[in-house]
Amino acid sequence: MSRLPRSFGIFVFALVVVAGLVIWTILPRTSNEGYIPEQPIPFSHKLHAGQYKMDCRYCHGSAYKSAHAGVPSLSTCMGCHTVVKTDSPWIQQIQKAYAEGKPIEWLRVHELPDHAHFNHKRHLAKGVTCQTCHGNVQEMDKVYQAQPLTMGWCLNCHRGFEAPKNVLKSTYPEQENPEGPVAPFSCNTCHY
Ligand code: HEC
Ligand code: HEC
Ligand code: HEC
Ligand code: HEC
Ligand code: HEC
Repeated sequence: MSRLPRSFGIFVFALVVVAGLVIWTILPRTSNEGYIPEQPIPFSHKLHAGQYKMDCRYCHGSAYKSAHAGVPSLSTCMGCHTVVKTDSPWIQQIQKAYAEGKPIEWLRVHELPDHAHFNHKRHLAKGVTCQTCHGNVQEMDKVYQAQPLTMGWCLNCHRGFEAPKNVLKSTYPEQENPEGPVAPFSCNTCHY
């Protein structure tokens, strides 16, 4: 058997490069999945929401009442940290900022582009859990973006393709194996 011509090798190499470029081009570029910023104070959800079982509402109650979940003000922290772990330099930093009336500059983890609108209250009212979109935050020392949050990802649920069972069940209570859209998916639902 004769050896393959050298040009064949070059051809295969070129094919691999082109295929790689095509895959790279079609992958969603806007997704920040996995993004994990270094926060100014190492606040741990694993400790507060996991080990001490604090309810998400204690600090993010606005999520149930408005479009935004918000991040708690220092007065929420001071409810405990006027007395808890006051020998920690981090807690002393929080106390100092509180006394001076300065907020902690938490870095945003999840953020959609300005042209896309989101609403927390509407999702929570239909039984979509925080963990569906944010992952198991109660197990995270540092919060990271666990889901793609791309348009395709949003639509997969709205159109019912990957909607949670409880959301499908409440949308189609009369069906035995409920299926179908669970939320509107026309462009102006999210872009306006
Ligand atoms: C003791 C208060 C407290 C509790 C309880 C708490 N959080 Fe937080 N959460 C914070 C603070 C402070 C931040 C900002 C710092 C950070 O991102 O770690 C934050 C940030 C977040 C973020 C990232 C926000 C962004 O910038 O995109 C998510 C998501 C989140 N929390 C979800 C949850 C969920 C889900 C629960 C319940 C399982 C929960 N939190 C319980 C205080 C709390
Ligand atoms: C319900 C009470 C409670 C609230 C509210 C609370 N914490 Fe804590 N926090 C604790 C407890 C308990 C510990 C663990 C103390 C220990 O290790 O002995 C802790 C530990 C910490 C630590 C680790 C300190 C160290 O050096 O080990 C940080 C940082 C912290 N909290 C920040 C915050 C921030 C920021 C907020 C507000 C967003 C907050 N906490 C709200 C109870 C609370
Ligand atoms: C259907 C998906 C979804 C659910 C359910 C959801 N979130 Fe979010 N969350 C998002 C998206 C998307 C953003 C970014 C919003 C933006 O940039 O406008 C976000 C942003 C946040 C932020 C940053 C601050 C803010 O208000 O934008 C926090 C904190 C947060 N979520 C906490 C929670 C908590 C706590 C729950 C449950 C009570 C929850 N989220 C449920 C998708 C979700
Ligand atoms: C796990 C399922 C799920 C995911 C993921 C999801 N949604 Fe939704 N969405 C729903 C449900 C259920 C409703 C409530 C529909 C209703 O109230 O009838 C809703 C409602 C909405 C509404 C309000 C619609 C109206 O009638 O005004 C907006 C806006 C929205 N979603 C945007 C988004 C965006 C943007 C994302 C992605 C970042 C997203 N959603 C991800 C399930 C989801
Ligand atoms: C359920 C919410 C939702 C609906 C419905 C929706 N979008 Fe989007 N769209 C998003 C989100 C979130 C983003 C930002 C994330 C991304 O680029 O994937 C986005 C991004 C976009 C972008 C920018 C893409 C880029 O690369 O930056 C365009 C253009 C767009 N949408 C057009 C549309 C059109 C046209 C429709 C109707 C056929 C539509 N969208 C319906 C949520 C939605």
